[in-house]
This record gives sequence, structure tokens and C-alpha cells, in this order.
Amino acid sequence: MKRRYRPRIVTLFIMVFRSLSTVTLLSLLSLPGLTSASVAYCNNQDYESGALGQAPYQTYYAAPYKPVQLNYALPPADCPSNSQVSGYFMFSPLGSDLEMTGGGYIMNPNGTMVYFSSGFGSTVILRGVFTYEGEDHLGIWVADGSDAVPAGHGSGWNILLDRSYNVVAKITTSGLTVGADLHELHITTNNTAIITAFPTDETDLSAYGGSEIGYVLNPVAQEIDIATGEAIFTWKALDHVSPSECYAPLGIAATGYGIATDPWDYFHMNSIEKNDDGTYLISSRHCHTLYLVNSDGDILWRMGGKNSNFTMNEGANFTWQHHARLRGSGQLSLFDNGATEWEQDIPYSQGLLLDYDDSAMTVSLSSARAPYNRTNTVSQGSVEFLSNGNSIVGWGAMPYISEHDETGNIIWSTQFAVPNSGISSYRAFLKDWTGRPSIPPSMKVTSPFSNNVTVYAWWNGATEITSWELYGSRLITPLKATSLANASKTDFETALVYSGSEYTFYQVAAHNADGEILAYSNFTALDGTTFGPAENQTITAAPLNS
Ligand SMILES: *[C@@H]1O[C@H](CO)[C@@H](O)[C@H](O)[C@H]1NC(C)=O
Ligand SMILES: *[C@@H]1O[C@H](CO)[C@@H](O)[C@H](O)[C@H]1NC(C)=O
Ligand SMILES: *[C@@H]1O[C@H](CO)[C@@H](O)[C@H](O)[C@H]1NC(C)=O
Ligand SMILES: *[C@@H]1O[C@H](CO)[C@@H](O)[C@H](O)[C@H]1NC(C)=O
Ligand SMILES: *[C@@H]1O[C@H](CO)[C@@H](O)[C@H](O)[C@H]1NC(C)=O
Ligand SMILES: *[C@@H]1O[C@H](CO)[C@@H](O)[C@H](O)[C@H]1NC(C)=O
Ligand SMILES: *[C@@H]1O[C@H](CO)[C@@H](O)[C@H](O)[C@H]1NC(C)=O
Ligand SMILES: *[C@@H]1O[C@H](CO)[C@@H](O)[C@H](O)[C@H]1NC(C)=O
Ligand SMILES: *[C@@H]1O[C@H](CO)[C@@H](O)[C@H](O)[C@H]1NC(C)=O
Repeated sequence: MKRRYRPRIVTLFIMVFRSLSTVTLLSLLSLPGLTSASVAYCNNQDYESGALGQAPYQTYYAAPYKPVQLNYALPPADCPSNSQVSGYFMFSPLGSDLEMTGGGYIMNPNGTMVYFSSGFGSTVILRGVFTYEGEDHLGIWVADGSDAVPAGHGSGWNILLDRSYNVVAKITTSGLTVGADLHELHITTNNTAIITAFPTDETDLSAYGGSEIGYVLNPVAQEIDIATGEAIFTWKALDHVSPSECYAPLGIAATGYGIATDPWDYFHMNSIEKNDDGTYLISSRHCHTLYLVNSDGDILWRMGGKNSNFTMNEGANFTWQHHARLRGSGQLSLFDNGATEWEQDIPYSQGLLLDYDDSAMTVSLSSARAPYNRTNTVSQGSVEFLSNGNSIVGWGAMPYISEHDETGNIIWSTQFAVPNSGISSYRAFLKDWTGRPSIPPSMKVTSPFSNNVTVYAWWNGATEITSWELYGSRLITPLKATSLANASKTDFETALVYSGSEYTFYQVAAHNADGEILAYSNFTALDGTTFGPAENQTITAAPLNS
């Protein structure tokens, strides 16, 4: 098996040797373990065993990113090109062994990076694509150092980015003591946002072995009018659901001791969906229950848990679940963890599609999605249905993403870290997206030899580029852009080589599949001098929003 992972020390060596001859560099790169290719591995045993590290990563020559390296533990037939998967992975690895943090990814299924959402805060979770005001937007949850509570929830805010990566909305709580929590962001057809928040409230916990002056996390479901920032719905768990209905013990590290500095996480709200009829489906991991709530906050029914209104038929029960989503009438999907950090109920976690009948009040299993290698996921997880009936499961605390056919059979499974490395992604999706950043492409001019030039080009978030063109100008005045080279884009970063040295200023242009120009970079000289494109260099691709 050819190893393409490049250990950190070797990267350092390559940086040192970059100033030497290309011959030396190329011979180094052709050694096993040293190629610069960064497509996904396919069933790489060294990756799976941890021999390549807990979170193998990719490197580039000039672009300042070190994205996670994918490995298809269960490869599709055409691995790594994975041509039958259309769309982009959207996921957000968190964990201390990651080489690069502070952002979520948009990644091609072949493992090449498209976008890293850094620069917004210290903890950043890319939540997927949402329709807002009729257009696709990226949703991102952000927290800054002190606000982020790693122990399962956080206080921060959400932002919506348009297809040019401009921030068009900031969404947080209204009238609460904490900001938006990381567990949910859902944008409704009415341009409102559904979010969670985890304030601490005082309550009598003597019935549960705690103090009369006890403290709980009292999670809140809010619907926020994005334009005004006002809450149009606020539902606080403790007003409706007693801790006696739930399963998480009081007084262990994972759930809290019921004191002001360590409140009891009795309910753990982890998904909310607003339905077209104005009801809300709220998932409580720690009560093993989905609650259907009306706009007055009344609970219409409970599914699962101690007080279920539904009879749970064989295989339809769930515990410690995540990401409940209604699917048309009479169906819903969820991720059944069946396990937590302190308890295991079933041999392995599953993505479930359930049929429910709200007259007969019964729930039955429609189909189940088992994980590669049959592992338990003790926290997090997601199930996304694609338009063809297939589904994508994000395995949460297990760093895997898999696709399943309509009956739930696994088709492939990819990993972005080693299992039990502490690296997780809260949810993971496969989404269509078109991005054309408003900031111009980036480039770096290098001259490893006196007689030729290598220029590295990248454009974080751009989805339409199929090739890059390199231009040179001898002078600033007159600025005369001469085409020097073209190169197809197959990875995040592309190298363009010009076998000559008579130009001083270099520039790259991004071309789309029709050969139109999406954007020009600045002109840049070897010494770093930079200035904008020439007056007569016009974008020929139609604007995105037309
Ligand atoms: C699969 O599971 C076995 C047993 O738990 C474990 O030893 C092995 O490392 C796992 N393999 C992968 C690729 O996760
Ligand atoms: C959108 O607003 C209409 C009118 O207020 C309401 O009937 C409907 O339930 C709302 N839908 C959602 C998903 O919020
Ligand atoms: C659900 O069960 C509760 C009692 O636990 C009952 O009051 C309520 O009417 C039931 N709702 C439905 C829709 O069956
Ligand atoms: C669901 O019920 C079955 C019995 O019908 C049981 O074997 C299984 O462990 C239960 N699963 C969970 C998650 O409780
Ligand atoms: C690069 O491709 C463009 C067409 O997209 C062409 O006009 C130009 O001449 C090419 N440059 C070189 C150096 O071949
Ligand atoms: C990876 O996939 C993207 C999107 O399909 C494609 O443009 C690119 O050429 C592929 N790269 C490699 C190295 O296969
Ligand atoms: C760049 O110059 C070096 C040294 O003369 C030569 O070996 C190499 O082939 C050149 N590369 C290109 C692409 O012109
Ligand atoms: C590009 O050039 C403009 C105009 O000279 C300058 O303001 C800008 O900082 C440059 N951008 C980069 C990324 O160098
Ligand atoms: C811009 O004008 C210069 C002459 O001033 C010309 O050489 C160059 O081809 C023009 N470029 C474009 C893109 O029209």
C-alpha cells in the first residue's frame, strides 16, 4: 500500500529542501510516504490502525491549511474518485489531536478540500446549507474561547453566509442569559431560525438526591425572527418536563452535580424542527423522548421514554438519540446512539427511519442503518436523507461518515480520524453548494531556479474552478498581462509553472468549465509587492445571483 500521508517532520524537511533543486525535491516527493497527492485513501490499514497518527492531515506547498485526510475504511468501487457521490461533505471535526482547528469543512467526496470556515471564532461548526430569503446560505455556529463549553454545549451565535461568503445574518438568543448553543440551527420557510440555548436555573433537586437549592441546565428552544433578532417562540424544558421523566443520573461528571458551577444536564435538548403546521419536534437525549409541541408550548405527544404516548414496536425504540427530523407525513428519522459515555444499551448505534401513526399511536421500524465495524457512538450523530432515498449518516463521536441505500445497507464509509481518538463531528452532511468568494483568489510566487517560476494558486470556498491561468507582466506601467501557462484544478492548491524568468509580476485567473473567468488575483512579484488587476481585466462569468 502506497502511503501518501506526510509526517510532520517530513513536511519540515520539504520546506527546507524547497529552496534546493526541483530534481532533489521531485526525488524526495516520489519516495513512498512523500507524495503531495491529497485524495482520500482507500482502505489504508495504517490509517485505520493509528500508525499514521490519530488524525492524518494533508499539507500544501503554499496554502496555509492542513485539512484532515479522509480514508474510505469501506471503499466505494471507484475509490478515491467516488464519482457516484454528488455534492460536498460538510462536517466539523473537533478534538485535541487535530492539526488544524477553528473551522468546518466543505470537502469533495474524493477528499480534496473546497472550504475551511476559519476566521470567525475559536470554535466553529459548519452546519450545512439552508434556504434563507430564497437563496442557499451556509450556516455556521461560532463561539469564542471563554464562551465555548466543551462539555457538551456552548454559548455563542450563528451566522449565515451567502454564496460569496459574505456574512448576511447573525443569529443568537433573545432575552436569555446565554447565547445560542451548538445543538441546533434550522431555518424555516418563514426566514426564522430555530436554535437551542442552555441557561442554568435554580430548582429543588432534593427528590433526586441533590440539594433543595439545586441547579439544572434548563435548555430552551427558541424561534428567532432573523431580520429583527426577536424571539417569536420560547420553550423552556423545566416548565414542561420534570427531571423524573429522564434517565441521566445526577452526580456524575458527564451530567453534572446539580450545583451552580456544575448544573445537572437533566434534559439535554439536541434537535428541534419546526413543521409547516406550526408545531415543533424537540428531541431530549437524556429523556429518550421526542416531544411534539404546539405554538403555545403545550406538549401534544411524547414518543419514547417513560411516558410515551406511542407504543414502540420491535426495533423502533431509541435511547440517547440525536437529530430527529420529520420526513413527510408519518415518518421520521433519527440517530439512535443507544449509548452514552456512561452506559451502553445496544451493541451498536444506528440511523433509524421510523413509521409512526398518530391515530393508532404506534411507531414501527422502517429501516435501520448500521455502522461500518459495528461501533457505538456515545454522543452526537446525524441522519440525512438524500433525494434518491439513500441516506448519509454522521457517526458523531466516531469520526465516520457513511452512505446507505434505501433499505439501509451500507454502501461506503469514510473516516476523518482514528476511532476513539476523541475526534468527532457533531453532524455530517452531503450537500450541493455553489460558492464564489467575494475576496479574490490567493497565490504565492516561488522561483526554485533562476530560469523558471512556480506559482501556487488557491481560492478558499470556490466551487466552480476547473482550471487556472497564469499571467505575467514585465512592468507595472504599462501593465500588460501575458498568458504564461494553464493548469487544470484537481486539488485545493494548484501549481502553475512557467519556464522562463523575464516577467516580474505574476497573476492567476480562475476559469470555470465554460472557460469563462471567475476572478483575477492581484499581481504579485517574487519580493511580495502586490497590486490589483489591470483596468481592462474583466470577469467574463455571469454573476452568481443573476
Ligand atoms: C473494528 O473493531 C475492532 C474491534 O472493536 C477493532 O479492533 C478495530 O480496530 C476496528 N477497526 C476499525 C477500522 O475501526
Ligand atoms: C409560517 O408562517 C405562517 C403564517 O404565520 C404559519 O402559518 C406557518 O406555520 C409558518 N411556518 C413555519 C415553518 O414557521
Ligand atoms: C399522552 O399521554 C398523556 C398522559 O401521559 C395524556 O394526558 C395525553 O392525552 C396523551 N396524548 C395523546 C395524543 O395521546
Ligand atoms: C429496544 O427493544 C428491544 C426489544 O424489543 C431491545 O432488545 C433493545 O435493546 C431496545 N433498544 C433500546 C435502544 O433500548
Ligand atoms: C491558456 O488558456 C487560454 C484559454 O483559456 C488561452 O487563451 C491561453 O493562450 C493559454 N495560455 C497558454 C500559455 O497556453
Ligand atoms: C476531486 O473531485 C473534484 C470534484 O469532483 C474534482 O474536481 C477533482 O479533480 C478531483 N481531484 C482528484 C485528485 O481526483
Ligand atoms: C526549471 O529549471 C531547472 C533548472 O534549470 C530545470 O531542471 C527544470 O526542468 C526547469 N523546470 C521547468 C518546468 O522548466
Ligand atoms: C491586492 O491589491 C490591492 C490593491 O493594491 C490591495 O489593497 C490588497 O491588499 C491586495 N490583496 C492581497 C491579498 O494582497
Ligand atoms: C489590456 O490592455 C493591454 C494594453 O494596454 C493589452 O495588451 C491587453 O491585452 C489588454 N488585456 C485585456 C484582458 O483586454
